[in-house]
Amino acid sequence: MKKIMLVASIFGSLVFAVYASGNGGEQALAKKGGDLFATKGCTACHTIGKGKLVGPDLKGVTKAMTTKWLEAWLKDPSKMLKTDKHAQALQKEYGLPMPNQNLTDEDIHALISFFKANDQAKK
Ligand code: HEC
Repeated sequence: MKKIMLVASIFGSLVFAVYASGNGGEQALAKKGGDLFATKGCTACHTIGKGKLVGPDLKGVTKAMTTKWLEAWLKDPSKMLKTDKHAQALQKEYGLPMPNQNLTDEDIHALISFFKANDQAKK
């Protein structure tokens, strides 16, 4: 019985590895973004599709905003709050500036890929 379990789990991870690489990096990137969203503290202030918390619900954010805007925002929210009208309007609505999250470019790409995957999955 143990042997069967072992073979099954090895087979399972092989299938997963082939699946992940076959889908290009995109699927893996979105998954990484999902992990970051949970571990970087975003969930303290944001939900995706479960309503407003301290900050806006991020469902549909990749449809409302361009990738370029999202990159600039995640890179340096405080800089955007000085110059960007949409960011300023949000700050007025939510009553606090989103703190800088110290994300790397790689983190930012993964997070945006995660938001996009979500926006494509559920309408
Ligand atoms: C302390 C609370 C807080 C944390 C933590 C936080 N945010 Fe925010 N976020 C906000 C607030 C508040 C806004 C609205 C703009 C403002 O007031 O600065 C916002 C705005 C945004 C927007 C723009 C939303 C729109 O409708 O255009 C995105 C995208 C975003 N946050 C992503 C993230 C991600 C990703 C993380 C984690 C890496 C994160 N936020 C962590 C509070 C937070």
